[in-house]
Amino acid sequence: MLDKSYYDKTDEIIEHYGRKAGSLIPIMQDIQAEYRYLPGELLTYVAKEIGITETKAYSVATFYENFSFEAKGKYVIKVCDGTACHVRKSTPVLEALWKELGLSKKKHTTDDMMFTVETVSCLGACGLAPTMMVNEEVHPSMTPEKALAVIEELRGKG
Ligand code: FES
Repeated sequence: MLDKSYYDKTDEIIEHYGRKAGSLIPIMQDIQAEYRYLPGELLTYVAKEIGITETKAYSVATFYENFSFEAKGKYVIKVCDGTACHVRKSTPVLEALWKELGLSKKKHTTDDMMFTVETVSCLGACGLAPTMMVNEEVHPSMTPEKALAVIEELRGKG
């Protein structure tokens, strides 16, 4: 169960975009920007408020890869595993992060909700391979050592 503050914030976002079906995507984007994921309860709530079915809201949300129903850490690290990055050894970078953070293919987020590690199929910066992204920032030419240094730095920031 989400506490009331989530619904208050969602009401504010809905007011901003207007109670109409066409507001669904910007509303979902703002909710995700606020909480770093899209809580299912809020999606149900938004659907009701803007007058669309829950099924419709879910089908739109699942269509766009950027929406996540899973709570994510403060720092979302995306390790590119596209072809260019893969041949330039992105796998050891991913494995070093998993090892350091106690994560795996199945467990993406640390228990303290600080880090989420995911893979993506191309970050659109193949010339800088292997790449990884931390929230909105691209890190070029990664190595396991550089990736661990980034973690150290982020831990320092808290
Ligand atoms: S394959 Fe990694 S950035 Fe394109």
